Amino acid sequence: MIDQKLCDALNKQINAEMFSSYLYLSMAAWFETKSLSGFANWMRVQSEEEMFHAMKMFDYVNERGGRVILDTIEKPEAEWDSPLAVIEAVLKHEELVTRLINDLVDVSMEIRDHAGTYFLQWYVEEQVEEEANVGTLLERMRMIADDSAGMFALDMEMAKRTFTPPSSE
Ligand SMILES: [Fe+2]
Ligand SMILES: [Fe+2]
Repeated sequence: MIDQKLCDALNKQINAEMFSSYLYLSMAAWFETKSLSGFANWMRVQSEEEMFHAMKMFDYVNERGGRVILDTIEKPEAEWDSPLAVIEAVLKHEELVTRLINDLVDVSMEIRDHAGTYFLQWYVEEQVEEEANVGTLLERMRMIADDSAGMFALDMEMAKRTFTPPSSE
């Protein structure tokens, strides 16, 4: 049976992952209005990944005999000044999530829940990957700056991203 303190913290993180999914879906909708369908696709896949993160945790709480309690999902922002501003906001959000995951690991370590700590390592590694991917994208967008041909090419590339659920390890 899972410790209630860790269970509560995991429930909070399920909500945070669902908010991430909602935020990225809002960004996908924004890109659709800017005729950047490749970026919209990329954000949509990003949104699906976040829902996967939430559901992986949902399943884990159940597996450990805890109770999943869903809470209100905060309203996401809907307006940004530019495509660059959106991707900057993604990186900022991922950095926040990394801090939340680290706090969660702290809780599991405090109560010496080794299984929980081990489970959370998947998220620790996922955050390294997420920050690296978004960081690279941001650098490329800064290089492109106001070059519309560059943006067009990048949008075509972003259109290729598909969601593949990671195999459970
Ligand atoms: Fe996530
Ligand atoms: Fe993420």
